[in-house]
Amino acid sequence: MKANILVAGRVPPNVIVQLEEDFIVHQLEGAPDPEALIRSVQHDVRGLVTNAVQGVSIELLEALPKLEIIASSGIGADALQLEHARAAGIQVTVTPDVLNEDVADMAIALMLAVARKLCLADRAVRAGEWFTKLGLGYRVSGKRLGILGLGRIGQAIATRAAAFDMEIAYHQRTYNPDVPYLYKDQLLALAEFSDFLVVIVPGGAATENMVNSEVLDALGPEGTLINVGRGSTVDEEALVQALQEGRIRAAALDVFVDEPNVPESLLTMDNVVLSPHYASATIETRLAMGQLVVDNLRAHFSGQALLTPAY
Ligand code: NAP
Ligand code: 8YV
Repeated sequence: MKANILVAGRVPPNVIVQLEEDFIVHQLEGAPDPEALIRSVQHDVRGLVTNAVQGVSIELLEALPKLEIIASSGIGADALQLEHARAAGIQVTVTPDVLNEDVADMAIALMLAVARKLCLADRAVRAGEWFTKLGLGYRVSGKRLGILGLGRIGQAIATRAAAFDMEIAYHQRTYNPDVPYLYKDQLLALAEFSDFLVVIVPGGAATENMVNSEVLDALGPEGTLINVGRGSTVDEEALVQALQEGRIRAAALDVFVDEPNVPESLLTMDNVVLSPHYASATIETRLAMGQLVVDNLRAHFSGQALLTPAY
């Protein structure tokens, strides 16, 4: 008998069509009455599909007594109610590695865009101003890059930055003996070292507001913050204040505390580049993420080993 799967968030375009081959699929996104849909299938649903941003609520998990597995499109698990799932015996799968290259590309793109005023330059040309009001940008090549979180994506960022002759240091809880980069056992020391500080640690309680006003002051008036990890890791009010007071030079942000809401004051700053949580959003990566979601569900419901380790 086919298992019932509830799709509770936006998913890559290859997911639904493949799931429908093997499962009975119910889609919450776009359903005329989502609550009625949940009520009508809640005792049948054995698999739930979502993404790292929309995640799942405890309320929804509590409404699904037969749920065995959550398959999320994305690597971040901060919105997936891991504790609740563990206690309820629900497996949680995510999509590691397949997005490393594109998220790393985006970190470098944001760094270049903010330092070389790419968005302002584009606007200037479109406004017929050429470079008259643009002023000068500043250099990326050869500068010092600090990486907060030298995991799978952090290492892909470092590989790219090395090609820009950047001097690379990192901070995380554990020293990595297998990389040639400088380890800073304190985030403050990493910020002091850095011309550019890239945040790529997971979200959640352990990293909440880790980049606070003290860290921003250590980054200093010549320093630039890039965040491609999670909005919650940066104290957003402290960031706005540091930018307003010129205590840091600039910021490029793909993630925010309360997405899709972005602090009003950031919208008017010329030394800020903003991106709508878009770092993994390429056709290639999203299809690979979607495929992992489908393959993990197929593996689970046919009694095979999952393709990626489950929480
Ligand atoms: P990963 O391989 O698990 O790497 C995370 C790194 O962060 C690890 O090296 C870990 O080292 C470090 N870390 C974890 N907790 C820490 C803490 N409390 N203090 C300091 N360092 C800590 O994860 P990944 O695959 O690179 O992904 C990282 C994160 O990027 C995801 O969780 C997600 O939130 C974010 N992300 C964002 C996008 C986007 O679209 N913007 C896309 C993909 C991923 P230690 O354990 O040694 O501390
Ligand atoms: C996606 C992400 O934007 O993987 C993550 O943790 O934040 C991103 O890849 C997200 O999964 C939306 O589908």
